Amino acid sequence: MTTRVLTGITTTGTPHLGNYAGAIRPAIMASRQPDVDSFYFLADYHALIKCDDPARIQKSRLELAATWLASGLNPEKVTFYRQSDIPEIPELMWLLTCVSAKGLLNRAHAYKASVDKNLEQNEDPDAGITMGLFCYPVLMAADILMFNAHKIPVGRDQVQHVEMARDIAQRFNMLFGQGKELFTLPEAQIEEAVATLPGLDGRKMSKSYDNTIPLFSSEKQLKEAILKIVTDSKQPGEAKDPDNSHLFTIYKAFATPEQTTTFYNELKDGLAWGEAKQQLFTVINNELAEPRELYQELINQPAKIEEILQAGAAKARKLAIPFLQELRESVGLRSFKQQLITTKSEKKKSAKTARFVSFREKDGNFHFRLMAANGEELLLSKGFANPKEIGELTNQLINNPEQIGIIQQGLQLIIYWNNERIANSIEYTTDAELATTVQEIKQALQELAEQE
Ligand code: TRP
Repeated sequence: MTTRVLTGITTTGTPHLGNYAGAIRPAIMASRQPDVDSFYFLADYHALIKCDDPARIQKSRLELAATWLASGLNPEKVTFYRQSDIPEIPELMWLLTCVSAKGLLNRAHAYKASVDKNLEQNEDPDAGITMGLFCYPVLMAADILMFNAHKIPVGRDQVQHVEMARDIAQRFNMLFGQGKELFTLPEAQIEEAVATLPGLDGRKMSKSYDNTIPLFSSEKQLKEAILKIVTDSKQPGEAKDPDNSHLFTIYKAFATPEQTTTFYNELKDGLAWGEAKQQLFTVINNELAEPRELYQELINQPAKIEEILQAGAAKARKLAIPFLQELRESVGLRSFKQQLITTKSEKKKSAKTARFVSFREKDGNFHFRLMAANGEELLLSKGFANPKEIGELTNQLINNPEQIGIIQQGLQLIIYWNNERIANSIEYTTDAELATTVQEIKQALQELAEQE
């Protein structure tokens, strides 16, 4: 069985080397496995929660799309799209919002952290907090549940959100699934093996610490950043301690095991830090040179990226559109043309079922109607001289439905029994209605058979 893996990338900021080693590269590797069906998307609706600068949003979306493609993501093999190109996602979000407990969302870390900060500063608890931030986990649940993903690779800070998606899915299944699992229950996948890359100063590489190494900027900028990596003051010739050097940790993330061993021994043997930085630059640059060029090419052809993302959106919507339709119907948003309308309480009260109703016309003949459970007339019979005939015939119809001939004539159904025309439907206006009626007739007869 293939596993569906899905993850979103919030489009704020420009990706750096830490994002590449910690998230992008492992995700692309994982997407190449044969038995996975990967969904990667730019979470640009999520970006709006954190950022109200349109230019920055737009720049980041483009840079992130180019980064993933240049790093080797194959849009033919995976489904790569922008969240904002899938209108079914916010629509699903509303269906989920209506079953999400407010108390559950009160507990979401991101929201709680903002409230706590306000309280610390003696502010109103909700000062500066938008509904976007509050509902962030519901939007994320919609991202995940829309595509029935099994595994969600995320950082630790996102595990709670995946669990909320699971809770919300369970609740929705219970309320509307009628025994069927509408939503697959997702599971967070924490990438334990992927170490977070340290930054220039040895803390986790992060924009908020201003200690990042750029990813696809020029070779010169890469070199300059590497020269800024903080080391101890050991002189050339003095033994270094690789196990306590973040420069070595970064090296390890880009080198083969053999290169790593050699580098380790050289440091122990007194390799100068300047030389070590040169070697670090070489291993990183070897890996990045080619994608960097591709990145530059892509970023200069935004229309091409747009095309790739549009194709991705079309692929995603092929799944999203029919699934959302099913979900809409499950909650009771159905076309009036086809559905039996029975509210939950009606069902309990009077469990109406299909029935035959016979009556006598003015001309003295007896007729019968086949009524659906919702009271709709499905068939009207010809006239019979003797009401007993009707009782016998309807019994036959109920017990031998496979012998009934149903023939379409224009937009009307004609019913035959023993080669004799015995009943017909009204005239419908579309073939679809006719097809539905055929189903309803079969259903009604089956209900009647079950009652016997
Ligand atoms: N919230 C995630 C983050 O900031 C991004 C995200 C949005 C996401 N929707 C998702 C991740 C769905 C996994 C699945 O990292």
